[in-house]
Amino acid sequence: MITQRPKGTQDWYGLDMYRRTIIEEIARKLCKTYNIKEIITPAFEHTVLFQRGVGETTDVVQKEMYTFQDKGDRSITLKPEGTAGAVRAFLENSLYNMSQPTKLFYITQAFRYENPQSGRFRQHHQFGVEFLGSASPLAEIEIITLLTEFMEELGLKGVKLYINSIGCKNCRKTYNEALLSFLKEHENELCGTCRERMQKNPLRVLDCKVPTCHEIMKSAPRTIDYLDDECREHFDDLQSLLSKMDIPFKVDTGIVRGLDYYTKTVFEFINSEGLTLCGGGRYDNLVNEIDEKQDIPAVGFGFGIERIIKELDAEGVQLVDEPAVDLYVGILGKESKAEAYKLVKRLRQAGLIVETDYMDRSVKAQMKYANKIGAKNTVIIGADELSAGRANIKNMDTGNQIEVELNKVAECLLKAN
Ligand code: HAM
Repeated sequence: MITQRPKGTQDWYGLDMYRRTIIEEIARKLCKTYNIKEIITPAFEHTVLFQRGVGETTDVVQKEMYTFQDKGDRSITLKPEGTAGAVRAFLENSLYNMSQPTKLFYITQAFRYENPQSGRFRQHHQFGVEFLGSASPLAEIEIITLLTEFMEELGLKGVKLYINSIGCKNCRKTYNEALLSFLKEHENELCGTCRERMQKNPLRVLDCKVPTCHEIMKSAPRTIDYLDDECREHFDDLQSLLSKMDIPFKVDTGIVRGLDYYTKTVFEFINSEGLTLCGGGRYDNLVNEIDEKQDIPAVGFGFGIERIIKELDAEGVQLVDEPAVDLYVGILGKESKAEAYKLVKRLRQAGLIVETDYMDRSVKAQMKYANKIGAKNTVIIGADELSAGRANIKNMDTGNQIEVELNKVAECLLKAN
């Protein structure tokens, strides 16, 4: 037990850790060119933020939150997603007082007590963007464009964009009536949770995972048939902009998203096996729900980092190899240690990846080790090399050796790289 991690969690190391770092680097670099600033919010928040923000009748709030009383008897929840915390921070720090819009990104862990399976964890990581202050469909275009570029940079080709509109509060009234009367006709066939939810929040019945409910909901009324003029125009404008931007997409009227804050646009990026890698949409009422003094439209997405790695594997995309050690500096003799280590330090400062001996191994054993870790080159530093100020660099692939002045080793290797 003590050497076993909790169910649904992962240890990050080796190639996956390196790939995660690269994914995060690509995300950060891209956000920089979009002028989207990084935000880090706490790993936990007051439970009420998620109850209010994500929604009382959602699976996330009802079944999946890691909630506990802290020692001060406050109800605290580990964040199950990034949006509510980012919006809380936007409000608490009065970011709305700065020139608008506000564009924020985060790379965060998220906690959901779900049944772990392939691509589903109890602690996962998301790259997310929240774009606050704009009601224009161009805000959607901004984040969707960023997402398509992100996937291009990752080399992913099998992930497709699906969009839908679930309308605003106004459309929801007429839609909910239609949906409720449909649900009443099928009440006896629905699961207990759906029967309970249909009265409080009928839309949530649409994302029930129970197969019989799922089947029934295929013939449920569609949100896009109940859009008011403004929401219809917004959805039409978005589609027209996407087409003009040559961004391929499909309308999928079944997408409603599992969190309560969405209004108008909802979208998902889904792979060929039906796994959602990224979900997002517009949430024009969330700011107001958290702080009734403010009324600010917003749109955003969350992209699962574990799912990106899974997709890279599925598509056979070699994102990166772990970087190889450029040079192994072997040490011959105790008296050479300090000078050899000074050389190691200088070479690292020049940007090379350098390893050396910390185990007092024999030179033969050091070379065996250098070979094992895949060092591209080796050099042995002993009294002779130090007094001559020169040493032989051996290329481990070809076996070729060249003699180089000790203060030119970096130059020589950087040229060869
Ligand atoms: P979400 O769809 O719940 O949306 O999660 C976003 C993404 O996080 C998913 O598409 C998936 O890739 C990943 N994800 C979610 N749950 C898990 C899990 N248990 N294991 C592994 N990956 C998971 C949100 O969280 C919204 N906050 C997105 C958003 C931002 N909407 C507007 N702004």
